[in-house]
Amino acid sequence: MIGVFDSGYGGLTIFRDIEKKLPQYSYIYLGDNARAPYGDLSQKLIYQYSQKAVDYLMAEGCQLIIFACNTASAMALRKLQQEYLPAKYPGKNVLGVIRPLVESVVELAQRSRVGVMATASTVKSEAYVNEFSHLDCSIEVFQESCPLLVPLIEASRENSPETNIILTEYIRPLKRVGLDTVVLGCTHYGFLQEAIEKSFGVNVRVLRSGQIIADKLADYLKRHPEYNHPVQNPTQTFLTTGDNKKFDQAAQKFLGRAINSLTIKLK
Ligand code: DGL
Repeated sequence: MIGVFDSGYGGLTIFRDIEKKLPQYSYIYLGDNARAPYGDLSQKLIYQYSQKAVDYLMAEGCQLIIFACNTASAMALRKLQQEYLPAKYPGKNVLGVIRPLVESVVELAQRSRVGVMATASTVKSEAYVNEFSHLDCSIEVFQESCPLLVPLIEASRENSPETNIILTEYIRPLKRVGLDTVVLGCTHYGFLQEAIEKSFGVNVRVLRSGQIIADKLADYLKRHPEYNHPVQNPTQTFLTTGDNKKFDQAAQKFLGRAINSLTIKLK
């Protein structure tokens, strides 16, 4: 069983590509919609909420969890991997999204000026800046925090005129610096992929995070047989800490099929 975790709907933009690429596994998606957005919370709270999500998904039988959330990947993942998992869940693992996205940029032929759009926490953590400087310090990174986008997407207003106006304002300074590549450093922004691509124009590559994470996960599972458990009749369970009817509507819009999520409580 593979767990996919996000603060809310954003992880669906990753899950959609994972299930397409790897349909032979069972999944549990968990969105902490009741407490989203995480992007402006303290590191302590983001760690605490992420840890509770890990506990819940592990108790449901996950061996491997994908943090389909940049904010949790930036603020909680390392500590969980280094301290919590070895003590509490030896032999189980949690993977994030930042390292694989940075690796995929570094693998591109043309990627010397890279923009990162992300939540305030992710920008402040400098997680992207640090990963880039480890892998290729010649790449110049320009970060832009976009704090109003997640609340709008959680309110299902991604196609509204106000979202468009706000998005244009966030993109303006990034356009000015002349980028060749843009990373959507928040999985929620996948809901705005087309609008962001259109705004940057054809000369800027806006990475498709879902496809990249799905490819990297397929590769990881090949290299780690201990987590590689395809099943005959795969199942998909959707859990939210928020309103499950609202979750079903948002998920249906994005996944293109009806789902029946359950509301759960994370302590
Ligand atoms: N989707 C998340 C991310 O990738 C979390 C955003 C939030 O809750 O603020 O950062």
